Amino acid sequence: MEAHDLDLVPVRRREPGSARPQAWPFMDGRRTVAELAAILAETGAGDFHDLAHILVRQVADLAESGHIELVRGTPGSLWRPPPSTTLVVAATRQGPDAHEPDDDYRSGFAGWYERASVRGKPRRILEPGAPVYFSPELVPIAAHPVLLGKGESAVRQILVHRLFGYLHFTTELEQIAVIPVASAIARGRSGIHLPEQMRGDAYKIVTDEAWHAQFSYDLIRQVETETGTAVPELPVPAFVDRLEKIDSSFPESMRGLTALLFSIVSETLISATLSELPRDSRLPAAVREVVKDHAIDEGRHHSYFKEFLTRLWPELSVADRRTVGPALPGIIDAFLRPDPAALLPGLRAVGLTAEECRQVFAEAMPEELIRRDVAAGARPAVKYFTEVGVLEDPRTRDAFEAHELL
Ligand SMILES: [Fe+2]
Ligand SMILES: [Fe+2]
Repeated sequence: MEAHDLDLVPVRRREPGSARPQAWPFMDGRRTVAELAAILAETGAGDFHDLAHILVRQVADLAESGHIELVRGTPGSLWRPPPSTTLVVAATRQGPDAHEPDDDYRSGFAGWYERASVRGKPRRILEPGAPVYFSPELVPIAAHPVLLGKGESAVRQILVHRLFGYLHFTTELEQIAVIPVASAIARGRSGIHLPEQMRGDAYKIVTDEAWHAQFSYDLIRQVETETGTAVPELPVPAFVDRLEKIDSSFPESMRGLTALLFSIVSETLISATLSELPRDSRLPAAVREVVKDHAIDEGRHHSYFKEFLTRLWPELSVADRRTVGPALPGIIDAFLRPDPAALLPGLRAVGLTAEECRQVFAEAMPEELIRRDVAAGARPAVKYFTEVGVLEDPRTRDAFEAHELL
């Protein structure tokens, strides 16, 4: 018996009445031709446009050399292998470039050259004399009696530190998490087939995010100079470790998926900071404008990553979905859960002891409040995950319920 390994690209089929092609079930694992024929018979394989990936790139070669015989136009008996041939079809997520001219991607980046902040907005310059540098209502620790007991100037300073923390988190999030993922998408290395225009838009996201990191860093330095408050050594954000733990629990073949899903989560959330700081007139104009510039760009990214999710999820095999589904609440939590280590340098700088810091964290940010805030922040991402069918797996649904995300 002759055997051939085929490197099968992700193939899609279009359900009648459905706008978007769905992944073929035979992406899931290795199939012999006999099994493939059975699947084709089951699902109705009349769509030659979608099957072109196999026929043109791989199977046709074998047909030409007489290894297999193609029977066109007969759903269910597309390939009739000669009795001496056994074909083993191996599915991979990394296929050669394939384009779908009729793809329904609607780009939100049409006006990018005029509207993106990196293209049209000036460097924001800090003016002196603002009463506060961060909205106190968004900083629960700033209202804790231990801190209030240290005096008004300590509270003001904590708000400056909170701004440092927020801007530092932004630079790290962009550089460590979002830029690598957007770059992979731009380079056609996301593991899924995307229309050419989505790749082009990913280049614009990389540029946007680099600018967000740059202007956030720039503002940290301006605030340091203006307020005389030294920027303490700020740790790598907790999400990095949290994600590494999740990723290392996945099989080798799925490494990298955590990063993609984390970007979907972080890019589809609209944080209270992004939406509320620009409206707080107590803050310096430069702070409000930087956050507003960022929020406007993120509106475009939000739609993009929502779209990316609707394309990624159906491309995953059933086994992959069952593995990552129950881990999604952890990925959401990794992004949204507060990071005490990031707040610690500020609290220490205004004179709190280690014991007082622990007390402030425990009392100002109880677990119940954290869970409620995480659930509120995660709402858009949870909605999109639900829409693409993530919760259809019972173990995944249980995990979302256990994290109080539903
Ligand atoms: Fe950004
Ligand atoms: Fe973004």
